[in-house]
Amino acid sequence: MERVVQCLAAKASLTGKRILVTAGPTREYIDQLRFISNPSSGKMGYALAQEAQKRGAEVTLISGPTNLSPPNGVHFIGVDTAQTMYKAAAKYFKANDALIMTAAVADYTSAKQIKGKLKKGPQELSLSLVPTTDILTQVSRNKGNKLLIGFAAEVEQLLDNAKQKLKRKNLDLIIANDVSQPGVGFEVDTNAITIIDKAGQIEEYPLMSKQRAAQIILDKIAYIWEQKNAG
Ligand code: PMT
Repeated sequence: MERVVQCLAAKASLTGKRILVTAGPTREYIDQLRFISNPSSGKMGYALAQEAQKRGAEVTLISGPTNLSPPNGVHFIGVDTAQTMYKAAAKYFKANDALIMTAAVADYTSAKQIKGKLKKGPQELSLSLVPTTDILTQVSRNKGNKLLIGFAAEVEQLLDNAKQKLKRKNLDLIIANDVSQPGVGFEVDTNAITIIDKAGQIEEYPLMSKQRAAQIILDKIAYIWEQKNAG
């Protein structure tokens, strides 16, 4: 009986909240057929969207190209480039209470997109790259009372790098994952997350399913809202 009560309480905890989640990779086109991307499968972001929806939140999922089906009951927006993801995030952020940026957004894009298909030739070819818009930094300018949650995919100095991103991007929480470790981060069904909050509190979790990691992240978000309401 006790277990059922706890379960119902957890499910009810996000009712009335509107949560925007981004997931998957972006594609930065060199010509009409070739692009720069990364191995993000979308699994972490889709798990968050699904779990938030199950707990009663109204969820919008903005996703780069993946092989996954949008979770039932979630408002789905498909995008491809960092720029299209930025435009969608900026548009939908206004109507949401929290943004969870799980997407692996490219930091650089090709300075120019070649029309048609780039022809092969004997000469060396250089590609000029320019920075993409940082979505979290931009939307944080209109943060107000909303929660901003970022992820940090690191291969070294996990905590230091994640803390810097938390500060630089004006986040409430950052979820750090050391993607150099087996079973962690891109493509796999599991993750090992470290949650860092604005006050510098650090919670480290062992390897677990992305579904379970999503539950822990959403518990933390629900807790922050609870604290805000109480204060
Ligand atoms: O999709 P999966 O296969 O399940 O893999 C999950 C994951 C590894 C993609 C996920 O757990 C993860 O770590 N996502 C963040 C990946 C990333 O781009 O991290 P970053 O450290 O480069 O970026 C920091 C934060 O800034 C991220 O929240 C990112 O979404 C955001 N960002 C990055 C670039 C940009 N132009 N705008 C941004 O807002």
